[in-house]
Amino acid sequence: MKLTIFGSGYVGLVTGACMAEMGNHVVCYDIDDDKIARLNKGEIPIYEPGLEAYIERNEEAGRLEFTTDAKKAVDHGLFQFISVGTPPDEDGSADLQHVLAVARSIGEHMDDYRIVVDKSTVPVGTADKVKAEILGALKKRGKSLEFDVVSNPEFLKEGDAIGDFMKPDRIIVGTDNPRTTELLKSLYEPFNRNHDRVISMDIRSAELTKYAANAMLATKISFMNELANLAERFGADIEHVRHGIGSDPRIGYQFIYPGAGYGGSCFPKDVQALAKSAAVSGYDAALLNAVEDVNLRQKRRVFEKIQAHYEGKLEGKTIALWGLSFKPRTDDMRAAPSRVIMESLWEAGAKVRAYDPEAMDEAARIYPDQDGLELCDTAHDALEGSDALVVITEWQEFRSPDFAELKKRLKDAVVFDGRNLYEPETVENIGIQYYAIGRGRT
Ligand SMILES: NC(=O)c1ccc[n+]([C@@H]2O[C@H](COP(=O)([O-])OP(=O)(O)OC[C@H]3O[C@@H](n4cnc5c(N)ncnc54)[C@H](O)[C@@H]3O)[C@@H](O)[C@H]2O)c1
Repeated sequence: MKLTIFGSGYVGLVTGACMAEMGNHVVCYDIDDDKIARLNKGEIPIYEPGLEAYIERNEEAGRLEFTTDAKKAVDHGLFQFISVGTPPDEDGSADLQHVLAVARSIGEHMDDYRIVVDKSTVPVGTADKVKAEILGALKKRGKSLEFDVVSNPEFLKEGDAIGDFMKPDRIIVGTDNPRTTELLKSLYEPFNRNHDRVISMDIRSAELTKYAANAMLATKISFMNELANLAERFGADIEHVRHGIGSDPRIGYQFIYPGAGYGGSCFPKDVQALAKSAAVSGYDAALLNAVEDVNLRQKRRVFEKIQAHYEGKLEGKTIALWGLSFKPRTDDMRAAPSRVIMESLWEAGAKVRAYDPEAMDEAARIYPDQDGLELCDTAHDALEGSDALVVITEWQEFRSPDFAELKKRLKDAVVFDGRNLYEPETVENIGIQYYAIGRGRT
């Protein structure tokens, strides 16, 4: 089948590469000339495990192309996927300008029936706006052409995006037309060989399903962080509590890790956008607002622990930071807890020596002129001349450090662990002072 993907970011590139892998002919479009030029030179602009091989293979086979030519993009695909960003607006609502710009572009160039598939995460009712935008553009051209708009939210997670796309838990298809449901089902057929994963529903329910999923996961995290803060006050260990409740199948072990708060390009903005949509509809989403508040507070917890340890005297201190990305296996630093910690440290007069296996370029891009930031080549380098260590992303290479070596290199032999990676006893027995999240009175 022929597909066009608008937006060649984390979702667009993975969708394009996986759809091409299944034998479809895919054209990926982006307004970012530089990004498309790099892709056409064989450079992958993001880090996502496995993506490079998929793109290379399918480009070589002639099934995957990249363009900045909107007319070519719209002419190509029966399916026109929208996977552009929906960042938070100033008031927290989802900014739909990119989604609507794509819709306009489709209306400006289409000459035949098109199925417009919205993969971006968008508030309920956006499909109607997309329809209106396309109709408006067609009207300006004096054209009357048939098209359908479908909601097909994406559930992949960065770091495991290819696996998630190739073997999805579910494929949500929201349509108002049974014929389109059938066409989408046949497009996704190759991903369904084991069992049918397509769940079809009306468009509004599909749009809400995506927010519901992210809000539920964010709620689990904020809940555990709240409990971790209580554990500290009560002198309990949240890791025992986690095991204790995770063993209940109604609760389960997934997404109940306490830590430095959730970040990334989805949870923070989606929880906010859903709460904002609720407010606009006249409903006060008390739980969603609390989930967001708890998370904002949690992102400052590690800094507060550093500040308390040094009794507020951080001027002139140097802190080693392991992990910049918002989670392992990605270079994405959008809304990452590392940013809150670093910015708080700089404000307090401290310097940061940071290391991350994949997000170094991204950190250099975000903080080009930050004197307080030294990007180091290895995790060990980051310790050199540092007073203390902060671990903020649970990359595998940070899980089992040589604590004796670590103690030797740090001036103060103190570790702040924002992910509860280590056993307090192991670290403390070596003579390192250890602060974790929710583990007794730390
Ligand atoms: N990143 C994830 O893990 C993830 C997972 C599920 C859903 N989503 C949702 O998918 C959407 C895309 O997210 P992302 O992380 O891929 O974003 P991204 O920022 O990585 O990529 C978006 C791309 O869209 C391009 N773009 C902007 N305006 C455009 C236009 N008018 N025409 C063509 N391209 C345009 C940008 O240049 C950029 O390359 C968002 O709504 C997000 O919430 C993201």
